[in-house]
This record gives sequence, C-alpha cells and structure tokens, in this order.
Amino acid sequence: MYVGEFLKSLDRTSTGVAGLDNLIGGGFVPGRVYLVVGPPGSGKTTLGVQFLVEGARNDEKGVYISIVQHPRIVTQDMLRYNFGLLAHVQAKRIVLHDLGEAIFGAGRRFSWNEILEMLLHIIKAENASRVVIDSFTSLEYAVVDPENKRMAVGRFIRKLHDMGVTCVIISEMLSSEAYTDEYYLADGVIVMHHFMRNYQMVRAIQVLKMHGVPHDSNLKKIRFTDEGLVVYPEAPF
Ligand SMILES: Nc1ncnc2c1ncn2[C@@H]1O[C@H](COP(=O)(O)OP(=O)(O)O)[C@@H](O)[C@H]1O
Ligand SMILES: [Mg+2]
Repeated sequence: MYVGEFLKSLDRTSTGVAGLDNLIGGGFVPGRVYLVVGPPGSGKTTLGVQFLVEGARNDEKGVYISIVQHPRIVTQDMLRYNFGLLAHVQAKRIVLHDLGEAIFGAGRRFSWNEILEMLLHIIKAENASRVVIDSFTSLEYAVVDPENKRMAVGRFIRKLHDMGVTCVIISEMLSSEAYTDEYYLADGVIVMHHFMRNYQMVRAIQVLKMHGVPHDSNLKKIRFTDEGLVVYPEAPF
C-alpha cells in the first residue's frame, strides 16, 4: 500500500468547525496533537470549544484546560453561540479545568515537566478523548527551566500519542517570524489571522502544516456566526 493510501485510510474526526474538515481531508486524525495559533480575538478559543462540542455530541469526553481565563468566563462567552455548550457541561461530557489558578496562584515557578505532568494528570483522570489547552504561551512565564521546553513538550506529545487523545493546543502568535517549539512538535498547525484591508477587518484561517495530509495552505475566509466559526472555501478578499 502506498503511504498516501494508508493516510487516506486513516480515520478522521470532525473538527466541529463547518468548512474546516474539507481543508484537511475530512477532519483531524484522531489521537494526534494540533496547534491552533493566532493573535488575540482571532477565534482560537471558539475553535477549541467547537472541537469539544463536536466530540460531546458523539459522546466523546472533552476536557478544556484553561491556563489564562477563568473557565466560567469562557463558558459565559460561549453561551452566545447556539452550539449548546452548557448542556454538555452540565452532563459532564465537557469538563473545564482551571489549571491557571493552580499554576499562577502557587507563588512559585515550576519545571516544564512538572507543568506537563499536571496536564497529563487531568487528561488521564478525566479519561478524555478530546482535549483543549488554552493557552500554552502563558506557561512560558511560569517555568524555571525555559531551556527544557523542546524536550519536555516533545515528551508530552509522545505521551498524548500513547494515550490516543486528540488534542488542540492553543498558542498566542508572538511574531510571525518566531516559530516556537510547538510549531515543530505538533502534528498539524492551524493559523488564525485577522488584519485590516481597505479599512475592513478581514478574518481568515490557514492550514500551515498537517502531517501526511495533502491540504490547501492558502488563506480561507472565516466568519463568526450564531453556530460558531465557519470556514469558507474562498480567499478572504
Ligand atoms: N459575531 C462576531 N463578529 C465579529 N467578531 C466576532 C463575533 N463574535 C466574536 N467575535 C470576535 O471574536 C473574539 C472572540 O473569539 P475567541 O475565540 O475568544 O478569540 P481568541 O481566543 O483567539 O482570543 C471576540 O473578541 C471578537 O473580536
Ligand atoms: Mg482565547
């Protein structure tokens, strides 16, 4: 069997974002780790929550691990969409964890391995099949050993692969020139964009990398709708 055929035969799981699956051959490959990166207000959290809601609809347990925002604020913000987050949270098909409180409230810094073990502990304890970590970037400020990031995150991703969870790691875009370790370590990278063009805010998404999956890397138009983010097959302008 050609490698290409093998990859085509891999299962896909819907991202939960209308139009995004079409860009990546039908959806995420289950059990892999994806990075969603973008500037503030570009739709990263919305995408992550839609991904969990899609799993919850199919009775897959989802865990949202919050590093920055209070989970209650995230839930409140997401209530404006019709995708029914609250019912899934009440039924515990989606669980929100406030790891930021534990890390930033501790009054000390941690090693990368300590932090990543905390994440793994939550994921295991919840027996999650879909995980969102929102966001990785602020962890950089909580560690004592920034030099160990590549090794520790590499090890973390291998453990996620062993556990078979499909994971979305959210990362802030610090500079388009500076690719952080997670760009290299993730199985796929999706970049959210917003920029001004002719005095109009343009919103777009780009599949920068998707291991083994033929994909279109051009910018695609996105919109926030009452159903959440929608990706259109055309360019944003
Ligand atoms: N209907 C809408 N039209 C335009 N922009 C919207 C709409 N709904 C939300 N947004 C934008 O999306 C942002 C929230 O998206 P979010 O997923 O939290 O982004 P991020 O996590 O990347 O910061 C809001 O701050 C707002 O700028
Ligand atoms: Mg966010």
